Amino acid sequence: MKYKTLGKTNLKVSRLSLGTARIGLSYGLDEHAIPPEAKALEVLERAHRLGINFFDTGNYYGLAEERLGKSGLLQDPNVIAGTKCAHFLEKGEYYNRAELESKIREQVDDSLKKLGINTLSILMLHGPNKEQIEKGELTEIMEKLRRQGKVRYIGASTRGEEAALAVIASGRFDVIQIAYSILDQRMAKKVLKAATVANIGIVNRSILLKGALTPLWNRLPKGLEQLQKTLGVAQKIAESLGMDLPSLAIRFAVSNPLIHTSLIGTSNIDNLEKCVKASEAEPLPPKIIEQLEGLAIDDPDQIDPARWPKQ
Ligand SMILES: NC(=O)c1ccc[n+]([C@@H]2O[C@H](COP(=O)([O-])OP(=O)(O)OC[C@H]3O[C@@H](n4cnc5c(N)ncnc54)[C@H](OP(=O)(O)O)[C@@H]3O)[C@@H](O)[C@H]2O)c1
Repeated sequence: MKYKTLGKTNLKVSRLSLGTARIGLSYGLDEHAIPPEAKALEVLERAHRLGINFFDTGNYYGLAEERLGKSGLLQDPNVIAGTKCAHFLEKGEYYNRAELESKIREQVDDSLKKLGINTLSILMLHGPNKEQIEKGELTEIMEKLRRQGKVRYIGASTRGEEAALAVIASGRFDVIQIAYSILDQRMAKKVLKAATVANIGIVNRSILLKGALTPLWNRLPKGLEQLQKTLGVAQKIAESLGMDLPSLAIRFAVSNPLIHTSLIGTSNIDNLEKCVKASEAEPLPPKIIEQLEGLAIDDPDQIDPARWPKQ
């Protein structure tokens, strides 16, 4: 496993990291039941043994924080948990300054308790939009939590270009989480470069697009014809290279030198091992990258899972 310094933080993160939604929530394209605790702990421990040292979680992720805390992994100073707060922002909810602060503070205390630590390495806002960021109140609250020692580094997990650019332009965040995959390359236009210039840590999610870039693609809801057609082309490219589609998708993400770490979401040990193996292979040749760049879809209705039709 290779490691990179996460932007201006002094955290060294594995190039592939683990997202914990699948071990805490019913989340994904399949009828995914939350795995039993023993299974979840096994996935976390195996990820650690395979060299993964960054775990993405969230106050919103059901049992995930609690399980990460129970794993004991966070007692290792080289293991980093990035958690998220204020998921209500993603639903467009906003409150007055005092209420916002009290809600966020309550969630942070809850996350610290569940994770079993005294300071969060990274705290991100969960899905703020451009306007919410530009008001400045959220940033002030996050900075206050940092001054008070509850949090070391602050960030935001965003959807789309506008919100990400607002986070970067504020000049006040250390880390940003974005989505970048074979199918969704919108962040490659401006955001990755702007974050690099600002020396912001870049955490990439949805490299398998919630399972669309896996054999689960046939469970996609109806109405995503452009996505399905493009997946067929990606599948053919993977076959021509003698690899499976998830491996091609992972190699595409980790071949991008601007990204510090890419999250994989899995609750399955075999898949985890396959993902780590793919991430450790050489970067894809420029010719293949160019071919895959041609598969990018810009329509957010096709490539943002939050906008997919309900099944
Ligand atoms: N707004 C936000 O901040 C936000 C939004 C979405 C996600 N996230 C974060 O990103 C993480 C990843 O979520 P995602 O949506 O981006 O998921 P993803 O990693 O793109 O895809 C996960 C899906 O792919 C399957 N899978 C994983 N490896 C596989 C392999 N080698 N072969 C076949 N199938 C494989 C998983 O099933 P199995 O479990 O069966 O392996 C699961 O169904 C989440 O856990 C979360 O931490 C954050």
